[in-house]
Amino acid sequence: MKPRMLMCAPDHFGVRYVINPWMEDQIDHINTDRARAQWEAFYQALSEQAEVHLIEPRRESPDMVFTANAGLLVDGIFVLSRFRHKERQGEEPFFLKWFQQYESEIVKLADGIAFEGEGDALPQPGQDWIWAGWGFRTDLASQRFIEQKVGRPMVSLHLVDPRFYHLDTCFCPLPNDRAMYFPEAFDADSLRQIEARIAPENRIAVSPEDAEHFACNAARVHNTLFMNHATPALRRRLNSLGFSVVICPVDEFMKAGGANKCLTLVLDAGDPAGALPKNAEQAASPR
Ligand code: ARG
Repeated sequence: MKPRMLMCAPDHFGVRYVINPWMEDQIDHINTDRARAQWEAFYQALSEQAEVHLIEPRRESPDMVFTANAGLLVDGIFVLSRFRHKERQGEEPFFLKWFQQYESEIVKLADGIAFEGEGDALPQPGQDWIWAGWGFRTDLASQRFIEQKVGRPMVSLHLVDPRFYHLDTCFCPLPNDRAMYFPEAFDADSLRQIEARIAPENRIAVSPEDAEHFACNAARVHNTLFMNHATPALRRRLNSLGFSVVICPVDEFMKAGGANKCLTLVLDAGDPAGALPKNAEQAASPR
C-alpha cells in the first residue's frame, strides 16, 4: 500500500523567534529561495514513493512547515498537539481543521498539558507500542492520557540534550524491530527501555557527527530513508540491513531545528499489515 504523508510548503518559513538552540543567531537568516528549492526536491523525491498531501501554509506561522508536530494519527484516531510555546500554538486550529475533514475521531489534551505530536511520538513498525519523548516539549502526563485514548502502550523516553529536544531528532524506529538512534540524547533509564525492546544487532547507534546532521530525523517510506545527511559508515550499515538511503539536504530547515522527518507527518505508514517482525514469526510458527 502506498504510504500517505502530510507536508506544508515553505511559503512563510523563516526563523522569527528562538524556541530551540538551533534557532539561536538564525533570526532572519533563512535563504528563502534555497529553502524552497530544498523543500521542492525533497517533496518530489518523496512523492515518487508516497502520496503526499498538503496543508495550506499560514503567514503568521513560520514553523508550520514542520507538520510532524501537528499531532499523532494512530489507528484512525488523531491526537491534536498542544504546543509548549505560544509561538507555535497558533498552528493548532489549522491542523485541527485539516484533520476534521478526514479523521472521524479527534482527541484533545486537557489544558496545560503539552504534547508535540510525531515530534515526540513514534510508533514502532509491526509492534503495538509507541516511543514517546518527553523533557523539553512534551509533558509526561500527555503520554499516560494518550495511552488510554488510543489503547497502545507508550514507552516514555527522557530527552536530556537540548539540541535533541524532540524525539524524532535522535530516534528513528525501523521495520523488523530495528531502530536508529543517538544514545547520548537519552538518560540511562531510557537507554535501558530501548535496549529491552531492540536487540543489540538491531540497534543502529549513530555517531555524534551523524546525529548533529540530524541523520536520525529520517523520513521513511517502507525501506527507503530520506535523510539530510549520512556518513559513508552509516550509509553502509543501513544498506547492509536492506535500507535505501536517499539524501535530500535540508540544511536551511536545520537552522530552525528540523530536517526531513520534521517536514512530514505520517497519515498512513502503509507498512504491510501481515508482515510480522522475525521474532514474532518464529513465536507464531507451529512447534
Ligand atoms: N522550529 C521548530 C520548533 O522548535 C522546529 C520543529 C522541528 N520538528 C520536529 N518534529 N522535530 O518547534
